[in-house]
Amino acid sequence: MPPSVATADTLEPAEAVAMPQAPARAGGRALRGVAATWWVVAVAGQLLFAFYIVTFYARSALAGRPEAWNAVVKGAYAPGDTVGNLVFASHLVFALAVVAGGALQLVPRIRSRWPAVHRWNGRVFATAGVIAALGGLFMVWSHPKPEQFVQHLGISLDAVLILVFAFLAVRAARARRYDVHRRWALRLFLAVGGVWFFRIGLMAWIVANQGPAGFDPKTFSGPFLSFLAFAQYLVPLALLELYLRAQRGSARVQLAMAFGLGAATLVMAGGIAAAGAILWLPRI
Ligand code: HEM
Repeated sequence: MPPSVATADTLEPAEAVAMPQAPARAGGRALRGVAATWWVVAVAGQLLFAFYIVTFYARSALAGRPEAWNAVVKGAYAPGDTVGNLVFASHLVFALAVVAGGALQLVPRIRSRWPAVHRWNGRVFATAGVIAALGGLFMVWSHPKPEQFVQHLGISLDAVLILVFAFLAVRAARARRYDVHRRWALRLFLAVGGVWFFRIGLMAWIVANQGPAGFDPKTFSGPFLSFLAFAQYLVPLALLELYLRAQRGSARVQLAMAFGLGAATLVMAGGIAAAGAILWLPRI
């Protein structure tokens, strides 16, 4: 008779939980803790971005000085260009709905306690994301800059992903396939967050290099910006796929993921601090 080896399957339930699954539980706990920290830091950074959009753009528009927008985006406001001005202004309104709505959408307590708020905010978030993406596409391709062609391709692919993810997230929710819905909604959250990742990624890069590196600040073009135009959403989306797999993985995989996500959170926090200090707070 082969010697009997105690495994999770041969033990009583209480022992099985206590013995081989303890490392897995520790891995799961570490991963959940780091993911929660990532979320708190990301939401705080996105709310700062939303606050900047309201205080800078809305305040100057309400004060009758929309030309102040041009200090940030050249040609954002052009007297007489009604269509262009409306497209830019509506882009900002929907961008605000996306940033603020996305943060709210991921709060677990709202999902469980007020599902109707989650549903309505979800509709607003997805619709605003789609409209912001379409407006963004119009803005990019109505005034293309040849030296930024690769960047235009990068942000346009992000816009296409936003449209696809929004459709799939809403379709899964309607079909009550909540597990599938959660995955597409998380992908949508990261895809619409691409422009925010771009800003914090660029500022972190500039601070780390103590100045512009890998691109020409005058033409706002160069290899680093071409790379960032894709990395702004492909890197977060790749990390999400690893995270979703790690949730079902072994303790070792979960700890490795917790470590990687922790490092990404530190970089993200540095990028938020840099973007806040350089781009947003001086204009608030
Ligand atoms: C869906 C999430 C999006 C948000 C939250 C967002 C947010 C913003 C904000 C706040 C600005 C004003 C510039 C600033 O103050 O930083 C802006 C400008 C702009 N956005 Fe978006 N945007 C989004 C999506 C897109 C997409 C998908 C595209 C392109 C396909 C796009 C193209 C542009 C363009 C061309 C400008 C003018 C400034 C520039 O040339 O960078 N946006 N956006």
